[in-house]
Amino acid sequence: MTQTRAKPRVALIGTGSRGTRTWGKELLDGFSDQIELVGICDSNPIRRAFAADFIGRDAPLFDDLTSMLAAVKPDTVIVCTRDCDHDRHAIEAMEAGADVIIEKPMATTAEKCARILEAQARTGRRVDVGFNYRHAPTSTRIKQELLSGKIGEVVSVDFHWYLDTVHGADYFRRWHANRENSGSLFVHKATHHFDLLNWYLDAEPQEVFARAGQRHYGKNGVQRGETCSTCTGKAECGFALDVAGDPWLNALYGTAHTADGYHRDRCVFRPEIDIPDTMTADILYDSGVQVAYSLNSFMPIEGYHLAFNGTKGRIEIRQYEGQPWQEPDVDTILVILNNRTVEKIELPFTRGGHFGGDIRLQRMIVERDLPDPYAQRADARAGALSVFCGVAALQSADTGRSVKLADLPGWDLVTQR
Ligand SMILES: NC(=O)c1ccc[n+]([C@@H]2O[C@H](COP(=O)([O-])OP(=O)(O)OC[C@H]3O[C@@H](n4cnc5c(N)ncnc54)[C@H](O)[C@@H]3O)[C@@H](O)[C@H]2O)c1
Repeated sequence: MTQTRAKPRVALIGTGSRGTRTWGKELLDGFSDQIELVGICDSNPIRRAFAADFIGRDAPLFDDLTSMLAAVKPDTVIVCTRDCDHDRHAIEAMEAGADVIIEKPMATTAEKCARILEAQARTGRRVDVGFNYRHAPTSTRIKQELLSGKIGEVVSVDFHWYLDTVHGADYFRRWHANRENSGSLFVHKATHHFDLLNWYLDAEPQEVFARAGQRHYGKNGVQRGETCSTCTGKAECGFALDVAGDPWLNALYGTAHTADGYHRDRCVFRPEIDIPDTMTADILYDSGVQVAYSLNSFMPIEGYHLAFNGTKGRIEIRQYEGQPWQEPDVDTILVILNNRTVEKIELPFTRGGHFGGDIRLQRMIVERDLPDPYAQRADARAGALSVFCGVAALQSADTGRSVKLADLPGWDLVTQR
């Protein structure tokens, strides 16, 4: 007689946009034959109720993690709360015997990363971090080209990421706008980019020198109101977000603020915003690779420039995501050798889902025994390495001095293998 293995019992905490869509409906639509959703938790009752309806699974609802863990004893908890809360939710879940999938960034400080690493070692649970960009087909192809050795030894990298005035502004409307909650965009956003670098280079960042400024949002503009919905000056602003006019945002956040005061459309020109919007960093790796990185959050374009400079040539891509002109739906990777030959590799552009990374990340996490020839699965160490890089960058920008990652608290736990 064949025995069918019980499906892993998965519970979700944090039913904001990311939790409800990517780790709720899309995960269940794609993989409900392999996992069972056994609990949905959010401290906001309005958002929690909408999420349950939208996900469309009959899972019990909870307003706090402790009750959910006690009631449903999940095998895995997916943590989609604010960045600053990831550590306490992930650690509580691990201590209750669950594996965890933690959205990026894994945490907001070096100390919090160290606590997660310590809890993982103590409980023996598995940690996966939501680094979806590693799984995009174009990223995989770049990794393959690097591994082929065509460009010789990589000596430096140029990596420049652009957020436009729609996407970039969004980080200044809510909790992300304060470093206490997000660690700043050097952690919240750049964790993706630092992780990509760590993964592509298969090396550890050692030292960061960074600069950062607030040049557009926050104190740079005129605050005409507290939230866009109540602002009398929104017609003159250019950054007003119409939550009520967007069915998705309205369902998730339109009235939910009446329960907890969390507004989705706070003014991007609040003077108390304390994160930079313009960032550059110079990163040195233990392999000797030098990286020139930048992140700008009020550009007329979305996308990035990435180039690996090697002893025998260069691999480069200009990844288009949004721009005020038409580009074909193709990602073009150029492999340019010092003998002047050029290989042009064209891959279909994948719109949405982080260039096709989300669905592949979900598969890798759900189908735990999938082969992983390019080491795309990201564990707690990977989560910590990129956060340490962001923390070092912010500290460097604040102090004007370069920061060695080894001088941050908990580095010994990151480097233990
Ligand atoms: N991998 C990616 O590309 C990607 C993309 C978007 C967001 N994210 C990450 O996903 C996470 C969530 O982002 P979001 O945009 O959905 O944020 P959000 O603010 O919309 O959602 C957070 C949710 O957590 C709930 N919450 C807050 N404190 C809680 C608590 N103590 N207990 C239970 N629920 C609580 C809030 O009510 C809210 O519904 C963030 O860490 C973010 O960085 C990752």
